[in-house]
Amino acid sequence: MSAEPSSLPTPTPTPSPAPRFGVWFVGARGSVATTAITGSAAVAAGLHPPTGMVTETPDFAACGLPPLSSLVFGGHDTVDCPLPKRAEHLAAGGVLPHGLPSAVHAELAAADAEIRPGGPLPGDTDGGPARTDDDWIAVFTADIRDFVDRQGLAGAVVVNVASTEPAPADGSLPPSSLYAAAALRAGCPYVNFTPSTGLHHPRLAKLAESSGLPYAGRDGKTGQTLLRSVLGPMFLQRALAVRAWSGTNLLGGGDGAALADPAAAAAKNAGKERVLADTLGAAPEGEVHIDDVPALGDWKTAWDHIAFDGFLGSRMILQTIWQGCDSALAAPLVLDLARLTLRARQKGLSGPLTDLGFYFKDPVGDGPSALAEQYVRLRHFAGRLSTAPDASGAPR
Ligand SMILES: NC(=O)c1ccc[n+]([C@@H]2O[C@H](COP(=O)([O-])OP(=O)(O)OC[C@H]3O[C@@H](n4cnc5c(N)ncnc54)[C@H](O)[C@@H]3O)[C@@H](O)[C@H]2O)c1
Repeated sequence: MSAEPSSLPTPTPTPSPAPRFGVWFVGARGSVATTAITGSAAVAAGLHPPTGMVTETPDFAACGLPPLSSLVFGGHDTVDCPLPKRAEHLAAGGVLPHGLPSAVHAELAAADAEIRPGGPLPGDTDGGPARTDDDWIAVFTADIRDFVDRQGLAGAVVVNVASTEPAPADGSLPPSSLYAAAALRAGCPYVNFTPSTGLHHPRLAKLAESSGLPYAGRDGKTGQTLLRSVLGPMFLQRALAVRAWSGTNLLGGGDGAALADPAAAAAKNAGKERVLADTLGAAPEGEVHIDDVPALGDWKTAWDHIAFDGFLGSRMILQTIWQGCDSALAAPLVLDLARLTLRARQKGLSGPLTDLGFYFKDPVGDGPSALAEQYVRLRHFAGRLSTAPDASGAPR
């Protein structure tokens, strides 16, 4: 029996599966990465509101950002404590809500299965010849490409949240730069949430320029420096003369331990001091210190002491005390940056994403240093990502 073609039922088109995007963390088993992976799963499942995620506010609704439920996590780390266990440790320390690690155990286990050994560490040669920089870059690139292929991802971003490393003394590529090179070789945008060198190495300048990929950094602005980027402009705009600005940070956790190394702390403090020099016009007297206090775990106390002159030389002091949970401050920003950078790649943007200075202590490019101006630039950026050009509220 033959039927007229017109009488055939119209086949229902099978909806193509929603694209999924990779977030590849360097330092995937650290506090910040574990909190970001746990938090993404919790918010996607509706277990917690997205508090602290700027990209979940109405200004970003028209950006076409990948939803949290579309993110697939993986990464490199040099330790092998499984992510679900790491999350339990964070819950025991009060960083994550009690019970959350077991509620999102499946997502943590899935991300853990996508973590590959990082490096280089002393003894990594296993008695064989030492790997060259190119060998390391090739291994890391292959790991990232395998992740993208195996998971069938529409794209991936590499985000550095590994321990802060000292600035390299010679011309060699530090680990963060090996990973940054691998990210670009694998065709992925790159975000450096740490003060480590990453793409800021002269030997990577050509690769960064020719890659056609967007990148952003350095060093997430989550506490003391966030406050400085608000208060610095206030003193300047009120014509109050800042005489000295001193700061002390007490923190524990892995970050506290890493920053006990004076060379690593120097990399961190340079970013904190840059914000003051940029917002006040000149660096005031005073220093920043970081003390490792293991008992504090991931909780940080940052104290700032600001001596300033008022009318007719009247001497005054402002003191601020910031008590924050470092990973809870950083994780939502890391998720924001991953989504914004993935979208920037999708929109064909390349080179340094100067408009993301809102998120960083030491931003790439020559953007403003005051938080309010940086927020205006971020909204403008959101407009560039949007399919509706006027939806951003960008200045015209
Ligand atoms: N939490 C914040 O508020 C904040 C703000 C700005 C920047 N940061 C930066 O984020 C980074 C992570 O902070 P954290 O608190 O998660 O630290 P953490 O010590 O808990 O985690 C760092 C992880 O990096 C891993 N690692 C070290 N060397 C590595 C290598 N060569 N390759 C792969 N992995 C490696 C470690 O094993 C560890 O799991 C630090 O550099 C910190 O300075 C944090």
